[in-house]
Amino acid sequence: MKYARNCIASMKGYVPGFQPDPRENYIKLNSNENPFPPSPRVKEVLQNLCYEDLRLYPDPDSWELRQKLGALYGFSPGQIICGNGSDDILNIILRTFTPPGEAVGFYEPTFPLYRVLALIHGAKVVSLPVAEPYDQPPPLLEDLRVFFLANPNSPVGFAYSTDLLLQMAQKIKGVFVVDEAYAEFAGENALELTRNCPNVIIVRTVSKSYSLAGVRFGYAIGNEKLISEMFKVKDPFNVNRMTQALVMAALEDQGYFQKNIRQIIETRDWFSKEAAALGYRIIPSQANFIFPKPQKGRGVKFYEALFPRKVLTRFYDEEGLRDGVRMTIGTRQEMAEVLCVMEEILPEFR
Ligand SMILES: Cc1ncc(COP(=O)(O)O)c(C=O)c1O
Repeated sequence: MKYARNCIASMKGYVPGFQPDPRENYIKLNSNENPFPPSPRVKEVLQNLCYEDLRLYPDPDSWELRQKLGALYGFSPGQIICGNGSDDILNIILRTFTPPGEAVGFYEPTFPLYRVLALIHGAKVVSLPVAEPYDQPPPLLEDLRVFFLANPNSPVGFAYSTDLLLQMAQKIKGVFVVDEAYAEFAGENALELTRNCPNVIIVRTVSKSYSLAGVRFGYAIGNEKLISEMFKVKDPFNVNRMTQALVMAALEDQGYFQKNIRQIIETRDWFSKEAAALGYRIIPSQANFIFPKPQKGRGVKFYEALFPRKVLTRFYDEEGLRDGVRMTIGTRQEMAEVLCVMEEILPEFR
């Protein structure tokens, strides 16, 4: 007797990046985490959390956070929904707007979770490949219930302009999801599109930009009609009490957040130039990672040369991604060490 649904039995499941014991002292550049600790205000709140309150359920609506995010970006709380990481938000979107059996689309390479969530839901997956040069997107796919676009793209790091996204939003018949997991590191974002395009939902996370991958918090901003439907689908208490308190503390410290973002962007731009000068091919990135490619040889060999030298990156055994690795931007000192390693291994790629 087979107990699992056919669509589950026949799929692979999402494979997260390797998460080593922190004491192993890797330069950990494989999950796009922020190299800086969260705001000191988060630490203060963490130390003063009332343990007795843990017996109580959290606010099911994350009301205070929605007010805070609304004030930061100029939206009403009714246009915002919070989730247990943006993974949760993507899942809620899929379940709210895609009837099982109907189509969900995206360009590839992209964040692999879109495909996995669609398959779990029993949706049809429609995808089109994108390749270099990345400034022109391929033709739009029609008749989709949901189209996911990671912008900036992951795992490559390029970004489409907001003008182009507007054109896409106007042509797409279903819900157009712009996943802005990395938008804080980019020159532009698409928040304004939600004001005039009733089908656009922007998805954000505090995992990368606020150094809070461990607390699990993401949110979506969009037209109130879309957001209110999503509220019916989310788990009732999907953002826990500790997360709500810690994220609030981080959002209140905008100065700390902006300083970290600036440093990461500066390090990314400096590192990209230096790596290119060594002879690596670099696609300009708008995110907190880059996708360097050695001149010759395969990405897997590059990954394997870095790994024993304690530099942990992400290799994707996928069409269009086999000639490089995805590498998160760490601190300036970490990236200087990585550059030395990349210079040392160069002879292997001549
Ligand atoms: C494009 C993209 N979207 C969403 C996520 C998920 O982020 P979160 O930690 O908020 O679940 C990631 C994580 O790597 C990502 O790369």
